[in-house]
Amino acid sequence: MLKNIAVLVSGGGTNLQALIDAQKSGIIKSGKITAVISSSSQAYALKRAENAGIKTFVVSKKEEGSQEKFEEKIIKILEDEKIDLIVLAGFMCILTKNFTSRYPNRIINVHPSLIPSFCGKGFYGLKVHEAALEYGVKVSGATVHFVNEIPDGGKIILQKAVSVRKNDTPETLQKRIMREAEWKILPKAAEKVCRNLLKNEKEK
Ligand code: GAR
Repeated sequence: MLKNIAVLVSGGGTNLQALIDAQKSGIIKSGKITAVISSSSQAYALKRAENAGIKTFVVSKKEEGSQEKFEEKIIKILEDEKIDLIVLAGFMCILTKNFTSRYPNRIINVHPSLIPSFCGKGFYGLKVHEAALEYGVKVSGATVHFVNEIPDGGKIILQKAVSVRKNDTPETLQKRIMREAEWKILPKAAEKVCRNLLKNEKEK
């Protein structure tokens, strides 16, 4: 049976779109995106999910009132929807150990740099690319990794390097890393983890 995938988002959802497209084209064939959970009701990612006929949920930390309640609500959805794999795709909220320890090797995240550079607390979205350009690196890229209680600290699944150009701005670098790296390695990693989950099931 295909593994149920939940994608957690906060914004534009281009990585979610890459996952939806990869499912359509058969790159993802061991799992199926069955739920999209957004931390914001304004996220365009919700529209992308609706267009693809995927069930959507909004869980706002502000409305829930605390980190604990925020996480409990997400956990309830994941349980109700019988989710096997959680993909963080531009999800801009921190998840504590209370959450991550429930899903060992079942949460993956895409980060827009080559970990261990420009990662951890405070490094998200454009800030990552600003820091990379400021440092003057000639190569950056993206990483997909398992998620544990350490921000961007879990085991690396896939990485792809992207060259920095002389005239890059944080915006141009961000777009190129998304196009050349994130949108490619995130679907591949999701398939890899689902395939392994299926394989482990059969071996039991
Ligand atoms: C992506 O570049 C993703 O790697 C990054 O936010 C962007 C979301 O774009 N995530 C992080 O920085 C997490 N630390 P999207 O909503 O279009 O997929």
